[in-house]
Amino acid sequence: MNRARLAGRLIGLGITGSIAAYKSVELLRALQAEGAEVQVLLTPSAGRFVAPLALEALSGRPVESDLMALLADGRIGHIVIADTADVIVVAPATANWLGAMANGLAGDVVTAACLASAAPVVVAPAMDGEMYAHPATRANVARLRDEFGYRIVEPESGVLASGQTGVGRLAELGRIVDAVVEAVGDRPVRAADPALRPPRLSGTAREADLEGRHIVVTAGGTREAIDPVRYIGNRSSGKMGVALAEAALDRGARLTLIAGSVDVGLPPAAEVIRVESTAELESALGSILGAGANNRAGFDALIMAAAVADFRPRRPATSKLPRGAALSLELEPTPDLLAAAVQAARQLRPVPILVGFAAETGSLERAVDKLTRKGVDLLVANDVAEPGSGFGSNTNQVTLLAADAPAEAWPLLTKREVADRLLDRLAARLDARDAAAQTGRSEVPQESPT
Ligand code: PMT
Repeated sequence: MNRARLAGRLIGLGITGSIAAYKSVELLRALQAEGAEVQVLLTPSAGRFVAPLALEALSGRPVESDLMALLADGRIGHIVIADTADVIVVAPATANWLGAMANGLAGDVVTAACLASAAPVVVAPAMDGEMYAHPATRANVARLRDEFGYRIVEPESGVLASGQTGVGRLAELGRIVDAVVEAVGDRPVRAADPALRPPRLSGTAREADLEGRHIVVTAGGTREAIDPVRYIGNRSSGKMGVALAEAALDRGARLTLIAGSVDVGLPPAAEVIRVESTAELESALGSILGAGANNRAGFDALIMAAAVADFRPRRPATSKLPRGAALSLELEPTPDLLAAAVQAARQLRPVPILVGFAAETGSLERAVDKLTRKGVDLLVANDVAEPGSGFGSNTNQVTLLAADAPAEAWPLLTKREVADRLLDRLAARLDARDAAAQTGRSEVPQESPT
């Protein structure tokens, strides 16, 4: 699987008033396809070419267009973008904007954000050929490139808005995306915490689309005893599993939460089963997976967000091991609870939907293997080595894998947002499962990336 080249990044997309502004909608999508979150900055004249509503709907963030307006939380929008964007890309950049920028005239949000930012800036000019060839424009471009260090993605030759042919057509979008990727390089993410970034559109509350469903979520880490005092554990805080539990409850589900060791409070409305070890988790799952009369399933979906031990001491000591010289522990592999749950669930009716998580570092290729090996319907692969992703953080960056749908690389989101998106998919699959049962088919909906 190719990794999204802008995963976890926030890109400021400055759009100025050229006819090529309509292409910026496609550019926004192309940046998102690389895993980026996009915050649009729009000059007044650009707003006459492309509607803010379209840009907001696609980016999920209010468009920044008024230099004088404050964000709802009182922060100054263009400064927040200047401080948190990993790159600002201005595409298309008009002759007027190049002149303003070259002279430091911060009369619009795009210039103001660039002036205030330490982020790399990528500029893709687009205009009439004669305008681009004019010495004034050439001097402005040269200043941006040579003095400011901005990356210029030169326009291409072709038919222009005037009907004439010349050099001035906005560069092909792939070149602009490549320039943004190069500008990011291996710089650290500037502001991984969503609270620091410009706000998202306040999410519309999900409907109660899990009402009547029984969802089981596992959360937290397991602990495997070495002796009555010591154990082998892992770094799971339980935040991801608890976010899933809270989101499912908010959507009307009956929720069973099987919780290992967690650092966060558990939702009061959940039916909680506390476990410590993999063996206790196995037995809790066994009680959930037990079939009723006629193999009737007692739950609709199982989401395994818990970090389960892969090895445990073969013979834990029954009394505290004395301090002394070196100690060797013999570890045995634990059973794969999720793979066993998939096998057991297949015998139930209706067949529950099973979702796994995969904690990976670096490449996500092993996650693709886990999807097939464990036989789950959905696998949420998180790169636990990425900043702000995986263990302990409030945010997570995941790729959703399904056997019957294309992979979806989601941007860095809060764990609650990951939970909401995952439950969107789960609710759709449950509805499709039930509809197929009624018509005797077995189909799942094709999912479109959000
Ligand atoms: O709890 P947080 O701090 O919020 O962190 C969240 C998280 C990183 C723990 C979570 O997002 C996550 O990735 N959970 C799964 C961790 C894990 O065990 O990954 P794995 O790749 O080792 O296992 C893959 C799947 O098999 C998981 O669904 C796991 O629950 C399951 N498994 C693993 C081992 C085992 N013996 N039996 C299992 O069922």
